Amino acid sequence: MTLLDNLLYLIVLLFVRTASAAMVPGQTRQTSSFNNPVIWEDLADLDLLRINDTFLYSASTMHYSPGAPILRSYDLVNWEYIGHSVPRLDFGDAKYDLDGGNAYIRGLWASTLRFRPSNAKYYWIGCIDFSKTYIYTADDVQGEWTQASVIDNCYYDCGLLVDDDDKLYVVYGGGNNVSVAQLSEDGLSEVSNQVVYTSDIGREGNRFYKRDGNYYIITDVPATTEFVLKSTTGPFGPYERQTLVDNSISPIVGAGPPHKGALIDTADGQWFYMAFTDSYPGGRVPILAPISWDDDGWPTINLPNNEWGVSYPYPLPEHPLPSLPGIANFTSVGLEWEWNHNPDNSAWSLDDGLALNTATVTTDLYSAKNTITHRILGPKSNGTVLLDVSRMTDGDRAGISMLRDISAFIMVKQTGSTKELAMVNGVNLNATTGATTGWLTVSEGSEIATAPFSGDQIWLRVTADIAPAPGGSTSATFSYSTDGSVFTDLGNILDLNRNWEFFMGYRFGIFNFASVALGGSVTVKSFEQELAT
Ligand SMILES: *[C@@H]1O[C@H](CO)[C@@H](O)[C@H](O)[C@H]1NC(C)=O
Ligand SMILES: *[C@@H]1O[C@H](CO)[C@@H](O)[C@H](O)[C@H]1NC(C)=O
Ligand SMILES: *[C@@H]1O[C@H](CO)[C@@H](O)[C@H](O)[C@H]1NC(C)=O
Ligand SMILES: *[C@@H]1O[C@H](CO)[C@@H](O)[C@H](O)[C@H]1NC(C)=O
Ligand SMILES: *[C@@H]1O[C@H](CO)[C@@H](O)[C@H](O)[C@H]1NC(C)=O
Repeated sequence: MTLLDNLLYLIVLLFVRTASAAMVPGQTRQTSSFNNPVIWEDLADLDLLRINDTFLYSASTMHYSPGAPILRSYDLVNWEYIGHSVPRLDFGDAKYDLDGGNAYIRGLWASTLRFRPSNAKYYWIGCIDFSKTYIYTADDVQGEWTQASVIDNCYYDCGLLVDDDDKLYVVYGGGNNVSVAQLSEDGLSEVSNQVVYTSDIGREGNRFYKRDGNYYIITDVPATTEFVLKSTTGPFGPYERQTLVDNSISPIVGAGPPHKGALIDTADGQWFYMAFTDSYPGGRVPILAPISWDDDGWPTINLPNNEWGVSYPYPLPEHPLPSLPGIANFTSVGLEWEWNHNPDNSAWSLDDGLALNTATVTTDLYSAKNTITHRILGPKSNGTVLLDVSRMTDGDRAGISMLRDISAFIMVKQTGSTKELAMVNGVNLNATTGATTGWLTVSEGSEIATAPFSGDQIWLRVTADIAPAPGGSTSATFSYSTDGSVFTDLGNILDLNRNWEFFMGYRFGIFNFASVALGGSVTVKSFEQELAT
């Protein structure tokens, strides 16, 4: 987005917010309320931290690249994308480049992000492929992140604690054992590790905190419950346990019990719990509620009748940020965009838009490199892409997909020198078929409808309803326009699947691949996401 776009959004946002909440500049008591979810986007396995008055949020991206997006907020409610901790999925395996296989739902998840004051460095830590732990560091959270080390131990679902004495501890583990590793002084290798707690119930999703001299681990029983472990002795325990939240009712109708969250405090000493709620087909979205602490140092979330509030008072004075829907004109690749697997950087460029050269000869969307993706803003959004298709060549297919394990798309396809529009449904991956090798394509889909088209540019639109309410439609429809204002539906409806097994929610995925030979290209002139009714 340009600076002008940002300013315009800010002005519109300020106008809307001021009109609705009567916010007085400089006011410190929070009279306004925020709504859950705080961001209706797929931002799972959240980790939160605060540096003075600035909050940061890290999330899972699995096979998307760059990975581990970082968002920033000043009020815990309004967030903006500011970068990624993992610039490229450089884990020593060509499957992350979509070469010789794929890495669907591998890559990174349940990782941790912390700031270390003593050397002013940011640390991102995550276990990859259930075997090794990768550490990425940066001196500037918005600057360059680099792979700093690899530890030969999987810190499964980890949480980093920077202790008051600058020592670094990582809590991790699935199943029954909770372990804590101490890291070396530079934070890049392991000094020791030990099991600090054994549970009667399998769990994962660990986070590590210190408050008033006590050590706290929060650990998740998927996908319903969060435990708190407390030690008054030290990071290695012994720990006592209480339940923080169990089978609570999501503020999103039809979504699963909130769990696997993070604790966060504000500079003025308030505490909050941000969980995610499984809200497929859209993914896992963050919700926020206040916490209080009892005299024995145990936290309680403010959930009357075990139900999450649809709204709560603002934690802090509202600090609006550019809103998430908007127009991307691709003067740069915005920070909310991620590629499906590592991109072939020789096959795209910024040139009056985003030029996507075909990077793969295939008939399978899931094998095509350089599909660029955008999260879908719930509950219902339109994603509209404007494509310059004048440089397509024989056999090329370019368009926009609803991308998940059960996908569909609308495209321009070229045969010889003739173009045609087509809607393709039933584009499916299946985990069962590739139990040892990963998710494999079981269907490349079939053309449901075609329409004649000639011209150099086309608008393609997906309208996606991702609200999980029972009886709701969770569906997507596909349409096109040759003038940007009158849209014509093409093909049939994609029923968006609500299964959790693919973990990542549906995304808009803009693609261009060759079925005959490389050499063709399209330019993405713009992409616009609008909340739809
Ligand atoms: C946090 O605020 C303190 C006091 O103003 C300042 O000295 C410190 O540099 C700040 N920390 C960071 C990381 O900005
Ligand atoms: C859990 O930890 C104990 C040691 O405390 C160890 O004997 C046991 O094998 C561990 N279990 C698993 C599943 O790793
Ligand atoms: C961005 O693209 C939109 C849609 O094509 C267009 O209306 C708008 O003028 C463009 N904005 C800029 C700053 O180029
Ligand atoms: C995957 O394949 C299995 C076995 O053929 C089948 O039972 C299942 O329905 C398939 N799942 C999807 C999502 O296609
Ligand atoms: C979204 O798309 C639908 C279907 O094409 C259309 O009816 C609706 O007006 C669009 N909404 C917005 C906000 O563009």
